[in-house]
Amino acid sequence: MGLEVIILAAGAGIRMHSDLPKVLHKVSGKPMLEYVINAAKQLSPNNIHVVVGHGADLVQATFADEKINWCLQSEQLGTAHAVQQALPSIDDKQNVLILYGDVPLLRAETLQMLIDGLSKHQLSILSAKLSNPTGYGRIVRKDGRPQCIVEQKDADDEILKINEANSGMLASNAAKLKHWLSQIDNQNTQKEFYLTDCVERAVNENASVEAIICNNEEEILGVNNKQHLAYVERVLQSQIANELMLNGVTLIDPTRIDVRGKLSTGKDVEIDVNTVFIGDNDLGDGVYIGANAVIINSKIKAGTKIHANCHIENSIIGERCELGPFARIRPETVLAEQVKVGNFVEMKKSEVQSGSKINHLSYIGDSEIGKGVNIGAGTITCNYDGANKYRTTIGNNVFVGSDTQFVAPVTIGDGATIGAGSTITKDTPKEKLTLSRSKQITIDSWHRPKKNN
Ligand code: UD1
Ligand code: MG
Repeated sequence: MGLEVIILAAGAGIRMHSDLPKVLHKVSGKPMLEYVINAAKQLSPNNIHVVVGHGADLVQATFADEKINWCLQSEQLGTAHAVQQALPSIDDKQNVLILYGDVPLLRAETLQMLIDGLSKHQLSILSAKLSNPTGYGRIVRKDGRPQCIVEQKDADDEILKINEANSGMLASNAAKLKHWLSQIDNQNTQKEFYLTDCVERAVNENASVEAIICNNEEEILGVNNKQHLAYVERVLQSQIANELMLNGVTLIDPTRIDVRGKLSTGKDVEIDVNTVFIGDNDLGDGVYIGANAVIINSKIKAGTKIHANCHIENSIIGERCELGPFARIRPETVLAEQVKVGNFVEMKKSEVQSGSKINHLSYIGDSEIGKGVNIGAGTITCNYDGANKYRTTIGNNVFVGSDTQFVAPVTIGDGATIGAGSTITKDTPKEKLTLSRSKQITIDSWHRPKKNN
């Protein structure tokens, strides 16, 4: 018997107060629904059916690369009604696992327990004992067996005292589910068809129902508002921080690092506070990342120090480099080993060979810089004429005096020296001093203007 997974993702998420469909709100940089789809995929089901409604086009477009059977629920009449949109395409003999698109932390291992539960029971639901179950449906048990699930809004004071919360996840046989769901009505406070009512239907028919208690209460957290979203984000970030530390990374404060994507790390990596890693990043052995750095889709090789307040995007930083504080490295920058980039330097689409230094207040864009080059403070590559971009090429061992402008396209020969304050508009020869500067003069007859009374 095969497995079919149905993920519910049609709700508007009214409590989010957002135009974005709820399941597309991001946790650690990825839409919530992506976590649920990934957990489902790990179970190797025959098919994954996702029920969409509110913002269906956007949800489908976001997951266009996934193999999904999309089911449209044009009116959101409740979770049971949502499941009914997917059931007709599922063969009666299959097992069905139902997941909610707003419960992103559930692990495949836990879901497997639910499926395994079907060997003994006809309906297997997942619950957790929560310190604060407010907002969740409550599992009502009699003689230890689940009898029904009562939603928060339909619960009386006695039921509200129950701390066993419904995760929303359940597994059963397709034919049984179809049968139970056909009996569900919307006679409740919210006038919705509740999937949770299938528990009572099953119990009424003496079907065996089991609620498996998930010991990790964080796994079943459902996101209904921005507070929940922020809470789930913190839970996930703390899991990521713990994993990094267990892999040997020194985190100065594990509550002050955010990883939104994948972060690979070597040995003896140290990360200071308030650092944000977005996308795929790789830190080599002995890398140090200073406070307030933002690093996006970049590779930082062994022994490199990134000082405080650097912003690095889509770039490769070589071994034993030193960057910042306050350096901005824009996409397609590649630095070889032992390159220094100091404060208030902006770089873009540039390649720098080993041992070169750009230490202060510069803009280096669309450039190639050779080995052992020293770029003086305030040097600017003028790469844009208002219409097109041009390249600056600087040879090995060039010394560039402060406050130089290179008006690209321009090439500077190996070993050249550029005098401070020059505007270089033509290629310059190897090994020679080139400068473009008007002669310094002193005007004896000049006096400072005096203030008129
Ligand atoms: C639901 C459960 C509650 C459980 C909680 C766990 C019901 C009736 N209640 O409440 O017992 O404790 O989840 O997080 O099931 N959806 C649709 N179509 C609809 C309505 C909802 O696809 O017509 C989807 C939503 O997009 C969401 C999921 O179903 O992904 C759950 O809906 P939501 O409104 O968040 O239910 P809760 O109030 O959280
Ligand atoms: Mg919910």
